Amino acid sequence: MKPRSYLMCPPDHFQVAYAINPWMDPDLPVDAELAGKQWLRLRETLAELGHTVHELAPVPGLPDLVYAANGGFALDGIALGARFRHPQRVAEAAEHRRWYEQHGWRYVAPTAVAEGEGDLLWTGGLILGGYGFRTQLATHQQVQETFGYPVISLRLVDPRFYHLDTALAVLSDTAAAPVPPQIAYFPGAFSPASARILGRLFPDALIADETDAAAFGLNLVSDGRHVVLNAEATGMAGRLAAAGYTPVPVELSELKKGGGSVKCCVLELHRKNGASPVAPAP
Ligand code: ARG
Repeated sequence: MKPRSYLMCPPDHFQVAYAINPWMDPDLPVDAELAGKQWLRLRETLAELGHTVHELAPVPGLPDLVYAANGGFALDGIALGARFRHPQRVAEAAEHRRWYEQHGWRYVAPTAVAEGEGDLLWTGGLILGGYGFRTQLATHQQVQETFGYPVISLRLVDPRFYHLDTALAVLSDTAAAPVPPQIAYFPGAFSPASARILGRLFPDALIADETDAAAFGLNLVSDGRHVVLNAEATGMAGRLAAAGYTPVPVELSELKKGGGSVKCCVLELHRKNGASPVAPAP
């Protein structure tokens, strides 16, 4: 199991002040102190598993900056930044840009709507791209031309699962032949054709149901062995354990009120120092 590098942003200014996804209700109270404690526990959990967590500084007036995964897609020394769909989040992109530029990544600005790892997931050979609610298809083309890996475009159709990372998770991206990458997904979040594409590419995937997805059970962070996921997603934890993974539940009740969970809060910095010498098979 290789140690991973992640980027997270503390929820110091987190609140649900607007509603840009079906989970957000500005009338529902958020316990800011609890949000902070839960976030810290998540950060510590990743560190205890042997991974490195980098921090992006929180900014007043940007409550969703805590969902750091939406700010970029970082692979092989290149970081494609973000261009947010909703005006409330537009200013977050500059914060991410500054972080990548200061930390030795070659920054590329997106030319269409791009919400980072919210809609772009690395499998170890392919990039899975979501579109339909946030990230635009044109971004998938830019990602292919920027990184040189095929992007599989998948259409999301259920507004509750507006980002790819709420409907699909990469469990294992080691791709050390002959072991293929493994994913988990909820087929109902995708158009029928996109679900068929996933079925063809990943016949051994873990299939999650609506209850798993609605508990944010797919919004997880896996290091290939340990899978950190929302404690409410007990069914998903059971499926993961049955498949040989070690589920590591964390409480994230407050950040869920913003429409996100573990994965949304954690961006993975994949291979800062360039591509691996042997391109892994998809
Ligand atoms: N309130 C944020 C939004 O609607 C939540 C983002 C969740 N992040 C994620 N990776 N799904 O944009």
